[in-house]
Amino acid sequence: MALRKIGIAADHGGKELKRSVHDFLQVIECEVVDYGVSVDTDRSVDYPDYASLIASDLSTGKLDLGIAICGTGIGMSIVGNKFRGVRAALVWDEYTARMSRVHNDANLLCLGARVINHRRAVEYIKLWLQEEFEDGRHSERLKKISEIEKKN
Ligand code: RB5
Repeated sequence: MALRKIGIAADHGGKELKRSVHDFLQVIECEVVDYGVSVDTDRSVDYPDYASLIASDLSTGKLDLGIAICGTGIGMSIVGNKFRGVRAALVWDEYTARMSRVHNDANLLCLGARVINHRRAVEYIKLWLQEEFEDGRHSERLKKISEIEKKN
């Protein structure tokens, strides 16, 4: 896997999984930018705040990729997809992890820490990083998404 700059973000529901993801990304020698929330925080925080931080930097090209984690992954994906150029995908198994890259070229992987365990999460991240976007008809579909972003 080539060296990439990857952001990670989580709310209180995802902070422990974020720590495991951070450790894994360091093992595979990615440059990791951690947007919080810290694992030491014992209060409840709002997922839109952390999703916005990572999605904003992804949207402006400060990151190559991002991984956003909350309890279900749903909130992170909803917020991530509000940002231009961000393709946030909530994945929950091997198939959705692969397809998020192959068909959607997702640049923000969203995970639900209350849905999958740490081992599975790392497996899905590996698949997402390893797979290649298929291009062809899928590029045309991504262009349509960009058009929708421009119009709305
Ligand atoms: C927090 O309790 C929970 O709502 C959040 O982590 C996430 O699952 C939202 O989508």
